[in-house]
Amino acid sequence: APLPLRHHHLKSFQLPRRGDPYTGRVPLMFNVDMTCSRCRPATAMAAGYDFYRNGQSDDIIFVWGGGGWLETNFGRLRYRQDDYIVIPRGTIYRLVPDDIAKEDYLILESAHPVRIPARYLHPEGQIRMGAPYSERDFHGPTELGPTEQEGDFAILLKDRARLTKVVMASHPFDVVGWDGYLYPFTFNANDFEPLTGTVHLPPPIHQTFEIRGYVVCTFAPRWLDHHPEAVKVPWAHDNTEADEVLFYVRGQFGSRKGVEPGSFTLHPQGIPHGPHPGTTLKSFDAQRTEELAVMFDTQYPLQLTPEALAMDDPDYPLSWLG
Ligand SMILES: [Fe+2]
Repeated sequence: APLPLRHHHLKSFQLPRRGDPYTGRVPLMFNVDMTCSRCRPATAMAAGYDFYRNGQSDDIIFVWGGGGWLETNFGRLRYRQDDYIVIPRGTIYRLVPDDIAKEDYLILESAHPVRIPARYLHPEGQIRMGAPYSERDFHGPTELGPTEQEGDFAILLKDRARLTKVVMASHPFDVVGWDGYLYPFTFNANDFEPLTGTVHLPPPIHQTFEIRGYVVCTFAPRWLDHHPEAVKVPWAHDNTEADEVLFYVRGQFGSRKGVEPGSFTLHPQGIPHGPHPGTTLKSFDAQRTEELAVMFDTQYPLQLTPEALAMDDPDYPLSWLG
């Protein structure tokens, strides 16, 4: 039977470590356009394969904790805490963490390509002045370093729910060069330039990526609205056309009580939500927020997995009663 329509608060902080960055993903929410997972890997690479390839989806890996090298057939690049690592489908890759015990990810698998919102782009294709980031903030692979080796190189290939092991007779990174516009890159959430107004500015100012069927937004540390009578937390609202998910990365969250780093809130379309009692008045004297959060809003409703329901706070819908 379908679950009753209500708000959800999932606490993922205590998720046990398991698997590697590919098989250790725990799907929490999904619809036809995307799957959101948390992953706290126990090992850098499980036995039996050497590389991973998502054949059906683009991977957005938000690095909540950890850092290391992303090795791909396009070359390698460093990743660090708070990076969004965007890996187009078909890329052969592996993460080589500096310290596996610190690795902790939020992973969004997208059925459609991950794009920069059109309104941030000049018709010639460059990122516009005034966009919340510039070309300088996007880091592509370097150090191609062709690897000339023969032997058995196994790739764990994912297409939708199916996993296939593909074995190549030579190293998949035996590449001397490549050309084109599609390659993995990193963008660090702390490089997102937030905007502030005299009064509360709407969520599109936080938009970071655009994908058919959903958007990804970054709530970066920022100055708050500065009109003397500004309400500095998002007022009560109704997402009439989107399910709204926030992943709380760190800091104090002005509009919410009870959420902690690692929490997700899911506020579905169909019912309104707003600041928790007391938070509006409390916000009047605040000048800055140091919160960092990742939001994704989906066009189609999200379904929760049994793993998500196991970390759901059943009393969350009552939390607005004070
Ligand atoms: Fe909201």
